[in-house]
Amino acid sequence: MEILCERENLNRESELILLDNNATTAVDPYVIDYICCTMKKLAGNPSSIHEAGKQASKYINYARQSILKNLGGSDTGFIIFTSGATESNNLIILGLSEAFSNDPDSCFVTTPIEHPSVYKSFEKIKQKKLHKVKYLKVEKKTGRIDIDNLITIINNEKVVFVSVNYANHEIGTIQDIGKIAKICHEKGAFLHIDATQAVGKIPIDIKRLEIDYLSLSAHKFFGPKGIGALYISYNAPKPEPIMFGGDQEFFFRPGTHNVFGILGMAMALNLLVPNLPTIIKEEQNLKDYLLYKIEKLRQENLIPQYSINGDITFSLPGTISISFLNTDASDLVLFMSSNGICISKGSACKTQSKKASNVLKAIKLTPDEAEGTIRIGLSPKNTLQHIDKFITILERYYNLKSDSFKNK
Ligand SMILES: Cc1ncc(COP(=O)(O)O)c(C=O)c1O
Repeated sequence: MEILCERENLNRESELILLDNNATTAVDPYVIDYICCTMKKLAGNPSSIHEAGKQASKYINYARQSILKNLGGSDTGFIIFTSGATESNNLIILGLSEAFSNDPDSCFVTTPIEHPSVYKSFEKIKQKKLHKVKYLKVEKKTGRIDIDNLITIINNEKVVFVSVNYANHEIGTIQDIGKIAKICHEKGAFLHIDATQAVGKIPIDIKRLEIDYLSLSAHKFFGPKGIGALYISYNAPKPEPIMFGGDQEFFFRPGTHNVFGILGMAMALNLLVPNLPTIIKEEQNLKDYLLYKIEKLRQENLIPQYSINGDITFSLPGTISISFLNTDASDLVLFMSSNGICISKGSACKTQSKKASNVLKAIKLTPDEAEGTIRIGLSPKNTLQHIDKFITILERYYNLKSDSFKNK
């Protein structure tokens, strides 16, 4: 309850340095202003037929068009608002499974490096034995999808649905979506892209890439938490609903609209998309600086040996996954946190877990490498000073631990 009374403290900006922008981002101040203004203006439920309802409905439809335009999908499909990418992923995988449930030969394909909201949905349909389920091979260390393996599976099975991560949440690897889409479409399979880590970070063109379905979450690109969307192409099969109630969102997703979340999400994307080329350069510069500084520490024997995970050439500009040898990443993350720096161990979705994530296992890290893996997610709001502070604390941490790594 005390938190609810702390109005004064709430006016002070947090002094924490967030280098964990793959887990989430701080809402952009302009987005906050926009949400506050629309909260004052719009009182109606967009489903109501009276004037207040119509006003709210007009705003969310504008947001819908704006998001579609920023993703390059205005004339190819539509979007459904959801509570975030977890729900979008569940809806498309479980909902399509239901739609194809009378065809036990149909094959659903994914990769071993997906977010739990995808791979657990696949586990569910596998358990129910409604379809065949296949996992694509990925390359050791980079996590790039083995395209030959995709071609083999597509040629040998009745593949109806393929779900792949656009940019990996843990290691940043970007997949060749254009190529994967072409291979799928040649054999009549439909492609779902979990673009949660890509939207707002790299340009996305749904039409050019021929994407059939796409999931996103606003809080990964400076929008509010608990709001997201699922894009569906006009030409692709439609999922059966997995939740029941009202007829909002074209019967695919019931429940009163999260009006201000939707508006904040549209505004956040609108602010980012025109500036992506500059943002990408800024993030890449920060990443290069950080990698240079880490390598310098290693050459001076101030930190242990390490390796960088993911595809160096096709990777999110702000994502860095590093495996330090002889390191307990949880301990390092907590040390960083106690010094005001937020980073994460592996994937933020399971920070409590001691087990290596499915991603780190699939790219074949050794248990020691996986145990010592941290993830840094940079954003254009980070500065060189943030990186300098991170480097100072990293050096301090290993100075305290020097016995454990220098003697090995
Ligand atoms: C690739 C990917 N997919 C899906 C999700 C789920 O997003 P949310 O927790 O906002 O539903 C995440 C969140 O980390 C993610 O990184």
